[in-house]
Amino acid sequence: MGLHRLTSITLGVPDVAASSAFFTEFGLDATTGGWHLTRDGGQQLQLVSAPTRQLKRLGVGASDADDLSRIAGRVASVGLGSIVEHTADRLVLIEPATGLLVEVSVADRYSAPASPHSFNRPAGVERFDVPAPSVMASDSAKPSNLTHVVYGTPDQPTTLRFFTDVIGFEISDEVPGIIAFTRCSELHHNFAIQAAPVAFPHHIAFEMDDVDDVVRSGQRMVDTDPQRHMWGLGRHAIGSNWFWYLREPGGTFVEYTADIDRISAQDLYQPKDWKGHEYLYSFGPATPHEFLEPSDMAELIAASA
Ligand SMILES: [Fe+2]
Repeated sequence: MGLHRLTSITLGVPDVAASSAFFTEFGLDATTGGWHLTRDGGQQLQLVSAPTRQLKRLGVGASDADDLSRIAGRVASVGLGSIVEHTADRLVLIEPATGLLVEVSVADRYSAPASPHSFNRPAGVERFDVPAPSVMASDSAKPSNLTHVVYGTPDQPTTLRFFTDVIGFEISDEVPGIIAFTRCSELHHNFAIQAAPVAFPHHIAFEMDDVDDVVRSGQRMVDTDPQRHMWGLGRHAIGSNWFWYLREPGGTFVEYTADIDRISAQDLYQPKDWKGHEYLYSFGPATPHEFLEPSDMAELIAASA
């Protein structure tokens, strides 16, 4: 696959200042133009003003100009989507079901520093004579990268077909008719496409070094404002990733995550036949109703009419 990661997203929010303050405290330092930085991905989240929360743009990283040309060719051969701009290093398309802008650009791969954390197991000791680094840490953990987005769409089959047949994402797991977990990298999912009454960003997720940093960061955010808490700490079934979800002021859920499954090749991965909501989590607190039915859904539907 020439695609190798998400690059950045543009998120529309009703109150940019309030959301910006949340994401800064979350660990994404603010810079100019509404941009917020991850540790290893740089500018990966841009906040812009919108009447209600919206995913405005999804950025995808490709290896070279040939990847962009192949995608552009598939717009015509598959007959889905339209091209807004095509240069040597950038291809901007419109997803046909929701109008989402998808920007595929030639981009560098992530380079993450080695984690200072170490773990002791019965069969392998990494740390003698000192406490776990996360216990002693006084600084805030910084999210490494924007790792996935879950996007609701009123025409799930069309949005899924656009991302797989045109852009080139691969399906890792699927709950037919409900949600498809797709990827543009070795991560189990980068973009999950769920059936919804209206187009909306269900959640965005940032990868932490390990579960220590998921817990440390989630707890710190909730200690400051308990109303932010949505769901966690737990471990998903599909993708296996640890999660702690918060709610940003615009209403989008924001996830600290770690240890997601990696897929080296499509034919080496065996998807399970997931049914109902068993896919949501393997262990952790029960899924809050609001995670399944966001409280602003009626408002989002009204705004889209
Ligand atoms: Fe997630």
